[in-house]
Amino acid sequence: TQQINGNIVWHNCPITKSDRQELIKQKGCVIWITGLSGSGKSSLACAVSRALYNRGKLTYILDGDNVRHGLNSDLSFKAEDRAENIRRVGEVSKLFADAGIICIASLISPYRKERASCRALLPQGDFIEVFMDVPLHVCEARDPKGLYKRARAGKIKGFTGIDDPYEPPLDCEVRIYFSDHTLFTSFFESLAYYYALQIVI
Ligand code: PPS
Repeated sequence: TQQINGNIVWHNCPITKSDRQELIKQKGCVIWITGLSGSGKSSLACAVSRALYNRGKLTYILDGDNVRHGLNSDLSFKAEDRAENIRRVGEVSKLFADAGIICIASLISPYRKERASCRALLPQGDFIEVFMDVPLHVCEARDPKGLYKRARAGKIKGFTGIDDPYEPPLDCEVRIYFSDHTLFTSFFESLAYYYALQIVI
């Protein structure tokens, strides 16, 4: 089937997503990790990636901080730029999943609407939303980059959780709740295996 959008025509290649998946013996999908700064998104992304790697599964992490160094280096933290940041990462995640890769997107992604749009890009079941439900005071106490301190001092304006909104998911696949950050490491490790078992085909 040919999709035509104005003067732009969709081009189909005879090698399909299922051919690629068959070749690398895995199913492409998106694990979307959302949560406040300092909630442990990047650590979880790495732990999941490591666990899947150990099982011979190919993953790729799209981390908000990292993507903002390149693809999204033109975007700020105002609402419309955050929305565009999420949209682009959603589209890129879809491409990775189409390539057969398990794409782990790790972004604050504070808005429900934009997260829902990213979900809608994928077939049912291929978008796994993970909410790092870590209270603000725990994130702020950790403050791994010293950003909360700067935000409280008024040196960063519009910091998520301080003077910018975060809309927690209502319908995510996985919710991770903890307030004792001494449990961090072991919790991540066991969780990573949980994902590995859930996702690997
Ligand atoms: S968003 O909201 O999804 O577009 O954010 P994201 O692309 O994930 O980028 C979040 C990281 O950028 C740093 N940072 C800020 N975060 C929130 N608000 C403001 N104003 C801000 N300015 C810089 C911060 O290091 C975030 O990293 P994480 O990994 O989430 O701590």
